[in-house]
Amino acid sequence: MSSNDNNSNAYSDFHLQFIGGEWQKGKDDSINTDTNPYNGDTIVEIQQATKDQLDEAYDAADQAQAKWAKTTPAERAAVMYKVVSILDQRQDEIVDWLIKESGSTRIKAMVEFSSARAITLEAASFPNRVHGEIRPSNTPGKENFIYREPIGVVAVISPWNFPLHLTQRSIAPALALGNAVVLKPASDTPVTGGLLLAKVFEEAGLPKGLLNVVVGSGSEIGDAIVEHKAPSLVSFTGSTSVGQHIGELANGGEYIKQVALELGGNSPFVVLKDADIEQAVKAAAFGKFLHQGQICIAINRVIVEDEIYDDFVERFLAHVKTLNVGDPNKQDTAIGPIINEKQLKSLKEKIAKAQEEGAKMILSGEIEGQVVPPHIFTEVTREMDLSCNEVFGPLVGIIRAKDEDDALSIANDSMYGLSSAVFTADMQKGLRFARGIRAGMTHINDISVNDESNTPFGGEKNSGIGRFNGEWVLEEFTRTHWISMQNEPRQYPF
Ligand code: TAP
Repeated sequence: MSSNDNNSNAYSDFHLQFIGGEWQKGKDDSINTDTNPYNGDTIVEIQQATKDQLDEAYDAADQAQAKWAKTTPAERAAVMYKVVSILDQRQDEIVDWLIKESGSTRIKAMVEFSSARAITLEAASFPNRVHGEIRPSNTPGKENFIYREPIGVVAVISPWNFPLHLTQRSIAPALALGNAVVLKPASDTPVTGGLLLAKVFEEAGLPKGLLNVVVGSGSEIGDAIVEHKAPSLVSFTGSTSVGQHIGELANGGEYIKQVALELGGNSPFVVLKDADIEQAVKAAAFGKFLHQGQICIAINRVIVEDEIYDDFVERFLAHVKTLNVGDPNKQDTAIGPIINEKQLKSLKEKIAKAQEEGAKMILSGEIEGQVVPPHIFTEVTREMDLSCNEVFGPLVGIIRAKDEDDALSIANDSMYGLSSAVFTADMQKGLRFARGIRAGMTHINDISVNDESNTPFGGEKNSGIGRFNGEWVLEEFTRTHWISMQNEPRQYPF
């Protein structure tokens, strides 16, 4: 039994949509059956939203936003502080939800909770950090003012892997900066990716209509969310293929809008010959297997310099064999279930393909239900599927690099450029190597999985456009308005 089951104060009624500040039934014929990925139990059945309900959500957001934008920074900050306090009070309840709905291990659920809390706290500072500028003018008698205003209505489409955090890191800054939001959570995590946060913001006193949660299938209402006239920005986190589609719609449709895209990754984890191998082994295991490898910034390729390759492999194998696999609710479980059958099927295909392509499988195990034990492959080359594509599961290939230059060339040999990591005892070498990587983020002597609310998070190449956190997201969720003031009559040529 989870600690939540006995909590009479726990949130309920997650079978409803949240539109215009009211909890209402979805009006579509289809039902989203939200299931526990570990034991297959049905958690909640949600009647999905129609496109008319989506219109309703956008209308509500549009109307509420104008008034919200005029509130004082202190009023908006107060809502964010209240949200932080509610998150704290309901931490156990939220962690339990993450475990049962997204298959998070307890460790991952805590990491996720902390990240969501941190970005909310950071967002509380945003209303007071927005500022304009005064620029000189070459026109006599003119003054130039640069205002920063809320962008308006923001559409947020979020994924299932870190549903609470990856939703909150868009909606908290958006709301704090005076915007309104229409959110579509992933169909695998409608509660932790949306409805639960709606309950928290409602309890915190966020005025009605500013946050709307529309539960529906991406393939059914996704295009309508993006193409709608109301949103000025679409903040999307998910796969590169859907992100590319959203980018096309947002810039090629009737209404042009901005997009912030946080897409797939293929993070290299490079171990140079002078590295602390024991520390690198532990980092590789955590950075690869946290949340079963289903993280866009998870280690996807382990690249090890030739001289230490065999030693690293031997120690990594021994360490990974000690990891507990199974029930995510148990305190000491390191690897829990895969989110759904579609992802499971793709992992089974990847295991078969790696062997077909000649990789050596040195660790495997029985797949039970949706739990996939860790699989390790050695003698993996840069051309193989395991290296070229995002795995999103507990499978890892270890690539042999001839030397540092070769390791850098392999690390950069990807259409993605999200996160990355390098291990070395020489910090200057580490910095040189890090600066040579074409990625949005590189961590020296740490894992690729890092996200701090005050540092820029985002990718290069096919990993997306835009940055989250700190002043970077502050720019993303506001618009710039140049206003000039002609203080004396200007002399026109005719
Ligand atoms: P996606 O299909 O990209 O789903 C992400 C979000 O987009 C979900 O809310 C989804 O809704 C929605 N969506 C789907 N089709 C859409 C459309 N045509 N228009 C608008 N929204 C749409 O990702 P997935 O299927 O969950 O996972 C597949 C792969 O995506 C993974 O293997 C992984 O590579 C990548 N992924 C990356 C991340 C991050 S953080 N970068 C996170 C999760 C997954 P529905 O759930 O209703 O389909």
